[in-house]
Amino acid sequence: MDDVTPSVDDALARLRPTHSSRLDPWVESYAERANGMSASAIRALFSVASRPEVVSLAGGMPYVAALPLDAIADTVARLIRERGATALQYCNGQGDETLREQICQVMSLSGIKAHPDDVIVTPGSQMAIDLVTRVFCDPGDVVLVEAPSYVGALGVFAAYQCEVIHVATDMDGLVAEALEEAIASVRAAGKKPKLIYTVPTFQNPGGVTQPPARRAEVLEVAKRSGILLVEDDPYCLLGFDGSVPRAIRADDADSVVYLGSFSKTIASGLRVGWALAPHGIREKLVLAAEAAILCPSNFSQLTVSEYLATQPWLEQIKAFREIYQERRDALLDAMELDMPAGTTWTTPAGGFYSWVTLPGDLDATAMLPRAVAGQVAYVPGTGFFVDGNGRSSMRLSYCFPEPDRIREGVRRLAGVIEAELELVSIFGPHSDRSTQQTIGSRKQGSSTPSPDLA
Ligand SMILES: Cc1ncc(COP(=O)(O)O)c(C=O)c1O
Repeated sequence: MDDVTPSVDDALARLRPTHSSRLDPWVESYAERANGMSASAIRALFSVASRPEVVSLAGGMPYVAALPLDAIADTVARLIRERGATALQYCNGQGDETLREQICQVMSLSGIKAHPDDVIVTPGSQMAIDLVTRVFCDPGDVVLVEAPSYVGALGVFAAYQCEVIHVATDMDGLVAEALEEAIASVRAAGKKPKLIYTVPTFQNPGGVTQPPARRAEVLEVAKRSGILLVEDDPYCLLGFDGSVPRAIRADDADSVVYLGSFSKTIASGLRVGWALAPHGIREKLVLAAEAAILCPSNFSQLTVSEYLATQPWLEQIKAFREIYQERRDALLDAMELDMPAGTTWTTPAGGFYSWVTLPGDLDATAMLPRAVAGQVAYVPGTGFFVDGNGRSSMRLSYCFPEPDRIREGVRRLAGVIEAELELVSIFGPHSDRSTQQTIGSRKQGSSTPSPDLA
């Protein structure tokens, strides 16, 4: 394993701008949308960060080891024994009907009343973001997103050559007045805003949640402006106090496409998510899905369906919540104890992430190689913006490492920040802009988002 994993030096070398001598013979043939779709230098660092000695606060990987694996093994074995010929066959493009009914029950926990006919099952909600964008956006159309926004969605919008505009957020998430102003200026510039993409609950990467009043304001702006609201809600059942925020979609069935996922509540490896859409849009999404994937995996769908029907899944989600809450507490307590004065962070009430802003105008992207050399990893804030913003911020994930590892990771990170502050006080702010462009510039296209960033 070790001999195929790049060293820290290799990874750092890849951060330097290069003029590759290995010519790609297809370079003239690629579609314009493939411009800039290269593996990011951050990804090279993450392959180092996955070494056991590095504490990774970077990846958003659910802690699937806490699942009742024996019970799932039995469920899968029974499924194959009893319905194998169906489970291993193609299915219809919209997804299994029983599963769609169960998805409606899951969504009812968020206050949503929906009919299974309006649900389309997708291989993860990532694919649902892709399908909605495919159906709505022509090159140059504008998508309004939070500042910062989910990196996987930014990758999709870039792939469809959308223009992404970030809208201000505060501790209550997307700011409705800023959204309205952004829409007005996009329209004044003669451009077409097509989608408002928001993660209102335990946001990735911000860790903030829109309270009910804010949700109502955001919905009102979307309706007034006639722009489709895409509500991406994979973390909604992971609130630490056990309550489930009422979805925006619960109050409007016509203006919202709601996206859900079993990745964080059952298993990300099964790749089962969904979209709930107004009838006409659902029709288009099914056609787009059939063109892209033929159908979602029947095996995965029936596994999820059996799991929901036979296992105490709500209790399992409670177990996940307790694990994540303990880890969130470990992160926050450690930051309180160790982080240099002036460092700020969000306090997530659920989900996987806290958004940390560094003191002294430090550059989190420039600092990353030194952090990885110091055996701790995070995702620099610039990854969650298309416009180079987020330089002095980072996303820390507490979902995967054990609490003691989280505490150790924060201790290391605090040491790296202290050293960086000292360097800046001696030599002035970091000014290696070439490094920043390599990692941070996503405007020309997308660096393919790595699962580490999810
Ligand atoms: C906000 C958000 N949306 C969508 C996804 C993709 O999830 P899935 O595994 O269902 O494709 C993620 C994954 O991290 C996410 O954080």
